[in-house]
Amino acid sequence: MREYRVAVIPGDGIGPEVVAEGLRVLSAAGERFGFRLRCETFPWGCGYYLQTGRVMPADGLETLASFDAIYLGAVGLPGQVPEEIGVRDLVLAIRFGFDQFANVRPVKPLPGAPFPLSHVRPEEVDFVVVREATECLYVGLGGRYRPGDPEFQVVASLRPTFARSRELAYQTGIYSEAGCRRVMEFAFDLARRRAGQKRVASATKTNALGFGMKLWDEVFAEVAAQYPDIEAEWQNVDAMAMRFVTQPERFDVVVAANLFGDILTDLSAALVGGLGFAPGANYSRTGPSMFEPPHGSAPDIAGRGMANPVAAILTGAMMLRHLGEGGAAATVEQAVADLVAEGRVLTPDAGGTATTAEVGAAIVAAL
Ligand code: IPM
Ligand code: MG
Repeated sequence: MREYRVAVIPGDGIGPEVVAEGLRVLSAAGERFGFRLRCETFPWGCGYYLQTGRVMPADGLETLASFDAIYLGAVGLPGQVPEEIGVRDLVLAIRFGFDQFANVRPVKPLPGAPFPLSHVRPEEVDFVVVREATECLYVGLGGRYRPGDPEFQVVASLRPTFARSRELAYQTGIYSEAGCRRVMEFAFDLARRRAGQKRVASATKTNALGFGMKLWDEVFAEVAAQYPDIEAEWQNVDAMAMRFVTQPERFDVVVAANLFGDILTDLSAALVGGLGFAPGANYSRTGPSMFEPPHGSAPDIAGRGMANPVAAILTGAMMLRHLGEGGAAATVEQAVADLVAEGRVLTPDAGGTATTAEVGAAIVAAL
């Protein structure tokens, strides 16, 4: 029997609830398709931080390194643990630590899921956002200066508000030629494999960000030239955000730097019915990839059986495909699509009354 070792990090809030349903579905798929997931669960996250003072053990990355994949729920206990701790020391530590540079977030609305637009049909929309996930403003470079600091004097002359402030803060994004190139090649390769419109749209903002986005644009032009069969287009990210709403059917593959991609993919989640329906994966070429829905820990609904497990289940299907179980992945996706189309067993965010576990059970039953 084929076996895969999966590190499971359920995390906080609704994370454990949706991951439990995801695992139920994945193991049922394994029974049907003849493979087994050997899962090891790690209780890391903000709850763990409250008990131990760390979100994961010091050797956490070493522990994860030997797994075939990582399946993560959600991390965060706002109000109890400063938000940046779980983000920096767990989610970003894993993305950066394993060089998971390609954060892939499909935008394929399921008929039957809430759809916010009236001028297009959900079936017409089918695109993927490839978000660079190891660079940009997420590298953690920055600082804060007070008037006594020598640096303060250097920049104070740039703007009148700087000079009269009690403090300045700066946060810098770094973009590398190699980092841009690999994620752009990933996006073009994906466009080539997809049965879509064979088009890659790059989210840029060179009109205002003349260093980082300039390099981004130059590399995009070089990479686009390597793929003459794929149409390449540049869009300023602000205009692109508008077109996600006005013309979402025009997109095939979108490639974006880390922060732009973060923002665009919450917007695109609205097109698939909300964060409860939006899956995601962070791919690495040198270490384990991480399968993680874009949604957060939603502490307001945690523990009430209300969370929509569809995002986590579809994220699990992405993991199966990555592990080489494409048939099982497609079957899980079809079972989810059928359930949503039928509309009987949906969680409250989708207008239903079913619980998290009932949705998971219905998908298992349909496999
Ligand atoms: C996401 C989240 C994360 C991000 C946070 C939790 C760091 O918003 O996965 O989109 O910004 O990448
Ligand atoms: Mg986000």
